[in-house]
Amino acid sequence: MSIIKIKNSENQFDCDEQDTILRAAIRSGIKIPYECNSGGCGSCKFDLIEGKVLSTWDAPPGLSPRDIRKGKRLACQCKPVTDCEIAFGEDHSDTPDYIPQRRSVTYVGQRKLTADMSEFHFKDNFPARFMPGQFAMLTLPGVAGDRAYSMSNNSNEMGDWTFIIKKMPGGSGSDFLFNKLKQGDSIKLDGPYGLSYLRPEIERDVVCIGGGSGLSPMMSIARAMTTNGQYKNKKIIMFYGGRAPADICTPQLVSEMDANGEQLSCHNVTSDVELSAEQGWDGECCFVHEYVEKILGSSIPDFEFYFCGPPPMTAAVQRLLMIDYKVPFEQIHFDRFF
Ligand SMILES: Cc1cc2nc3c(=O)[nH]c(=O)nc-3n(C[C@H](O)[C@H](O)[C@H](O)COP(=O)(O)OP(=O)(O)OC[C@H]3O[C@@H](n4cnc5c(N)ncnc54)[C@H](O)[C@@H]3O)c2cc1C
Ligand code: FES
Repeated sequence: MSIIKIKNSENQFDCDEQDTILRAAIRSGIKIPYECNSGGCGSCKFDLIEGKVLSTWDAPPGLSPRDIRKGKRLACQCKPVTDCEIAFGEDHSDTPDYIPQRRSVTYVGQRKLTADMSEFHFKDNFPARFMPGQFAMLTLPGVAGDRAYSMSNNSNEMGDWTFIIKKMPGGSGSDFLFNKLKQGDSIKLDGPYGLSYLRPEIERDVVCIGGGSGLSPMMSIARAMTTNGQYKNKKIIMFYGGRAPADICTPQLVSEMDANGEQLSCHNVTSDVELSAEQGWDGECCFVHEYVEKILGSSIPDFEFYFCGPPPMTAAVQRLLMIDYKVPFEQIHFDRFF
């Protein structure tokens, strides 16, 4: 066990050998900047003032060559070897309600949504508690580093955790999940994490935008808003972007939700012109951010936005909202799937 002290603050916390510095801080209720918990975004960069740390990933993409030259490290990829003093940039994020916990969950099964995307179901003996939009870290046997997956369901007493997961070509984590995991197997789950969760106190109607497996947290938000009475007067407009018509699984998922067209509407769009023509798509064919602009136009600043997907998609949505329509940053919540 090491003690981590944060420079220029009263905050210090214990970090045991299983935890990274980031996870131990969040578990202790201490706010430090972060987003992906996966080494991709660089938000959790810190300076080591005193002590020794071990990096669990030699060259994480969240550190640029300049960062490495300057001795920066990532709190989500470092474990302390001794007591340490560290320094962070400023953090303006909120603190979600639930402290992450490590647990062992049992694989129940998966239902296929498209050729390369399934909703995976795991079960635990204890209640599953998280905010809609958050994610958990899964430790997968034989896979280097944990993988982040966003829950597609809601907090529940039965211990159910579901995730919509896409099979990535050559990806070791998704290969394990799709091809090696057997019903009844146990894996380690640590969570919840993530700051891009549904804010219950906000009065604005909600727009959810998902690209690919970015659908998972958007389903969690939509499922929460259509089942929890506190949201019954708020509209949800969902946008879902896939490459080809065969990727569009939202009509089935939306039809299962207990919502009327007044509260929930869903707009699907494909981006590959040739595949869309080949597969007889008669819907919109463009990038999802372009479709958002086409449907919402000048009303864009009136909404609270949640979006998830690959970094180029989230960057395009961010540009649309913040640069083209001057939506304040506080109205925007997103996760990039590194
Ligand atoms: C916040 C967040 C939420 C996500 N939610 C979902 C979701 O709901 N559904 C979904 O399908 N995908 C989700 N992803 C993407 C997911 O975590 C994986 O990146 C994706 O499944 C590909 O993993 P892979 O192992 O198949 O591919 P790989 O190419 O083997 O691994 C890709 C990712 O694994 C991590 N990684 C690789 N090597 C190491 C290492 N040595 N140490 C530590 N980490 C390493 C990195 O984050 C890297 O981007 C999410 C990502 C983030 C950041
Ligand atoms: S939170 Fe550490 S790199 Fe994203």
